[in-house]
Amino acid sequence: MKKQVLALVMAAVMAGSLTACGSSAADTTTAAQAATTAQAEEKKEETETETEAAGDEDGVLVMATNAEFPPYEYHDGGEIVGIDVEIAEAIAEKLGKTLEVEDIAFDSIIPEIQSGKADFGAAGMTVDEDRLKNVDFSDPYTTASQVIIVKEDSDIAGPDDLSGKYIGVQLGTTGDIYATDYEEEGSTIERYNKGFEAVQAMLQGKIDAVVIDIEPAKVFVSQNEGIKILDEALTVEEYAIAVKKGNTELLEQINGALAELKDSGELQAIIDKYISAE
Ligand code: ARG
Repeated sequence: MKKQVLALVMAAVMAGSLTACGSSAADTTTAAQAATTAQAEEKKEETETETEAAGDEDGVLVMATNAEFPPYEYHDGGEIVGIDVEIAEAIAEKLGKTLEVEDIAFDSIIPEIQSGKADFGAAGMTVDEDRLKNVDFSDPYTTASQVIIVKEDSDIAGPDDLSGKYIGVQLGTTGDIYATDYEEEGSTIERYNKGFEAVQAMLQGKIDAVVIDIEPAKVFVSQNEGIKILDEALTVEEYAIAVKKGNTELLEQINGALAELKDSGELQAIIDKYISAE
């Protein structure tokens, strides 16, 4: 849409300069006016796009996520798939809207919701007190925990052994928050943009442990030799969908849809599709 308007401006300007060549000043004015009108239209268009992004007008719901978090959201071929994507698809369908998935850095998701560029965030996002100051959360749709991944021959056997070690986390996650407490105990926290980058750094011997959510941990461990998950879970967390603070209308719609998906068994079916029961 925007491109079309831009093309229009160009056409107007070009037509203007052609006629303006060796002709009266009046022609130039007309061309300039045409350009101004086109610009005004473009502006209007931009405002409309913003309203659209807020999901009010054209039936599009924009979901912000960070697709580096299997099995909740990850890239598969050219597509972004996973539990959160399917839950969001199901919610959008119930609300009669089309889902648009936006893949951004994890720590940009909340700002993106606050600015209204995204309608909601679904990213294996843990309900957390600090986050509640900036966004509202839906009812939780699943529980999770932080775990420690180490090399199979590591001397780290539990959380107490993290003292003084190099710990890798995904920037801005609850794993980051948890690990940061160990700074007081002489540990160094390495913050990566993607959880898997932390795992890679550990495989290369750059860090001693990774603190991350249990399900992605299982995926990363299953895909790489020589690493394991320690038994002791570090936290108990709930994942929920984040919306702009005060957007009770959307929040209620999401909660209504989630309740239906829970009752019908669809939610569990989506989870079971990606996570096999032990
Ligand atoms: N549950 C953790 C948190 O809320 C990690 C979520 C990371 N999600 C992602 N899509 N990368 O902080």
